[in-house]
Amino acid sequence: MSSNLMHPEKSPYILVLGMGGTIAGLASAAERPLEYAAGQVGVESLVSHIKSAIPKGVNLISQQLANINSRNLSEPLLSSLGERVYASLEDPAILGIVVTHGTDTIEETGIFLQLTCGRHANRLGKRVILTGAMIPSNAPGADGPSNLLDAVKWAATPLDNCPGGIYAVMDGRACLAMDLAKRHTTALNAPLQASPSSSAGLINPSWLSGVKAVQAAWTEDLPIPEGGEWPWVEILTSHAGARPETVSLWLDSEVKGLVLAGSGMGGFHDAWQAPLTLGVSKGIALVRTTRTGAGITYSDIPEKDPIGYLAAGSLTAPRARIALQLALNAEKQAKMMGKPLTWQDFFARIAVLPVIG
Ligand code: SIN
Repeated sequence: MSSNLMHPEKSPYILVLGMGGTIAGLASAAERPLEYAAGQVGVESLVSHIKSAIPKGVNLISQQLANINSRNLSEPLLSSLGERVYASLEDPAILGIVVTHGTDTIEETGIFLQLTCGRHANRLGKRVILTGAMIPSNAPGADGPSNLLDAVKWAATPLDNCPGGIYAVMDGRACLAMDLAKRHTTALNAPLQASPSSSAGLINPSWLSGVKAVQAAWTEDLPIPEGGEWPWVEILTSHAGARPETVSLWLDSEVKGLVLAGSGMGGFHDAWQAPLTLGVSKGIALVRTTRTGAGITYSDIPEKDPIGYLAAGSLTAPRARIALQLALNAEKQAKMMGKPLTWQDFFARIAVLPVIG
């Protein structure tokens, strides 16, 4: 983990945490930008490329937490990031935090940071901004520098009426990090295609009022699991010709939860009903969402939910998986403190957050 002090010590600064991704990627040849390796360039170098455009008086410090292709994102790495962000927010010298990240799994990191650090950032009045890129750093038209610059400027902007919280910026638009998800393989705005986001000068009033509604509903952060303590949760996708074995093969494993990415409004193939009922009786947590990629999964629709199932509201399958892992971990922590709270109590609070847009 390298640390680079780019400006005089003791001045308040923006912390830029490098995680890797295409923003730090290198193409083998400029004319073949799709043939590249992610996570090759250090965050210190990414920051140095925007140095001349950083507004006067804004100081940056960069730290490399990882330099990976985010398809290899691990749960222990999420824990390290969460712990670093949480602790850094408390540092009076740090005005805001930017995280450079691969876009493939930025969806998971966005919801993770919202659920574990969102309230903390909001209370402290500081912003954490996730950003990434779709074009590797050495290819023509690389979008990383402008995305990073937008993120730094936003993290450094006085609050005015944009509250502290966990946000993301890509392609000149801003959204809550928990709304960011990659929805196209190559388009520059891929991570924002399905996100309710703000465009006019990054932030506009109607989007901001939606943000404030989400933040008002978010009353507590969930604990960050120890690196090796994440409960095992899998995503199963329902599809034509689904077989009972897709579920039953898990029932004798150590899996603690299943996220069902159902068809349409979150229904799943009848072939799964019997093994899922068995799974619930064995104590496996079950959450239903939709594989459509957008819209709400409601309780008791399309059929009445059997006891033990929860609908995931607006959470997509990757987000529902992280939320369920954090909810299961929170239940474990609550039990250790003698509090009678269940994963369902924690998960339901996440699933019913207001939806923007
Ligand atoms: C990655 O997610 O690390 C590679 C893809 C990207 O950043 O767009």
